[in-house]
Amino acid sequence: MVKAKIAIASDISTDKVLKATANGKAVLVAKVGDSYCAIDNKCPHLGLPMAKGKFENGIITCPFHGSKFEICTGKNVEWVDSFAGIPLPGVAKKMMAMGKSPTDAPSFAVTQEGNDLFIEV
Ligand code: FES
Repeated sequence: MVKAKIAIASDISTDKVLKATANGKAVLVAKVGDSYCAIDNKCPHLGLPMAKGKFENGIITCPFHGSKFEICTGKNVEWVDSFAGIPLPGVAKKMMAMGKSPTDAPSFAVTQEGNDLFIEV
């Protein structure tokens, strides 16, 4: 494990995610309440980037098929719900899931030193 700086705390707002790179890994950094959180930018469904997804109330929505994850824990709260923002009916959701079961996204504990934020990867 390597400790890597991911952001400056004053650059993080509560209404959007910041894409950062830590030791070659792309992560998303956000502030939820008084806490800083980080999650893998790769969606566990098909490995596509979630950085351009909607972020609201601590939840990041994958822009490709609508899976939703708590940014502080990585917990999956919705699995394959839409295609490019268009809601899918039940059968289409199953087809779009491509046999993959709901999976949490890797999340990372964020530590703060002064104004700098770090994770271990
Ligand atoms: S790649 Fe994210 S939900 Fe499919």
